Amino acid sequence: MRTLSGIQPSGEFHIGNYFGMISQMLRAQEKEDVFIFLANYHALTSVFDGKKLSDQTKNAAIDLIALGIDPTRACFWAQSDVKEVLELYWILSQYAPMGLLERAHSYKDKIAKGLSPSHGLFSYPVLMAADILLYDTDVVPVGRDQIQHVEIARDIAIKFNNACGGSLLTLPEFRVEEDVAVIPGVDGAKMSKSYSNTIDIFLDRKSLEKRIKQIVTAPIALELPKEWKGDTVFGLCALFLDENGQEELKRRYERGGEGHGHFKAYLLDLIWSRFASARAAREKLRNDPQKVSDLLSAGAKKAGLIAAEKMRHVREAVGIYNF
Ligand code: ADP
Ligand code: TRP
Repeated sequence: MRTLSGIQPSGEFHIGNYFGMISQMLRAQEKEDVFIFLANYHALTSVFDGKKLSDQTKNAAIDLIALGIDPTRACFWAQSDVKEVLELYWILSQYAPMGLLERAHSYKDKIAKGLSPSHGLFSYPVLMAADILLYDTDVVPVGRDQIQHVEIARDIAIKFNNACGGSLLTLPEFRVEEDVAVIPGVDGAKMSKSYSNTIDIFLDRKSLEKRIKQIVTAPIALELPKEWKGDTVFGLCALFLDENGQEELKRRYERGGEGHGHFKAYLLDLIWSRFASARAAREKLRNDPQKVSDLLSAGAKKAGLIAAEKMRHVREAVGIYNF
């Protein structure tokens, strides 16, 4: 079974990215045929500073490897290193009805936030469909916000297959883990770069502490029992705890005598210790950029072979001359 996901190098990775997508990919690489790439063409829709985007792409590669993506197990590459994806994007555009794209929540949300709509932003889901369909993907692990995009990819594949009289494109399924489908940010809303409410994975300890202090909590006297249900600090701590750990924390909430300051200090320790080895690995990789670039090239080579073969069939199906 092939499992594929992509992540945009459009800023620092945060805890929502980690639990929504990255950790799913870490588990998948233990047992599935995992493909993971840096969606740098997609990032062009929001990052307009060339130097910044290329730096962020390199840093994102380092961060993902540091977090445990293992390029010797998973195929790991930068989207722009396999150009076939752009050709498939154009071909698939013919099978992507305007109405389908107009209904995309992510597009509508961005417009609502005042982003001026470009064609790139509008056709974003078609490029994402190309990412998924080029590699015969069975499963796409994502956070809840990306479900509709995977459904769009599936709809486009069905249209293409019907039109071309075959089953050339594999129909993908999304995979969302319910308890981590929407990780809250410091304001309690969905954690997202676009809401400036993220807790970034690789903050230094002081900045992390400062950020955690900004988590909004209900004011309640220290000695009183606290409600853990719906509490953002509890929800974030729970991500790092097993069932026993969660039960123990619930008891601490219910017992009273501790305030949110204590729970926030606990969260700080949980985050800091969970990512300790990733921080060390990151420092090492930052001093060895050649290694990272070699790993990405090897991934692109593997992905490129599959892409080239797939495109031969797709071209033939739609009548583009194959040399
Ligand atoms: P952002 O919203 O910060 O721009 P992205 O859209 O780049 O994040 O998301 C990258 C991946 O991380 C996607 O698979 C997305 O579903 C997942 N993800 C992002 N934020 C969250 C969140 N708050 N909860 C769960 N998953 C998330
Ligand atoms: N749109 C995804 C996001 O913002 C990134 C992405 C691009 C992706 N292509 C993909 C995810 C293909 C899964 C599969 O998070």
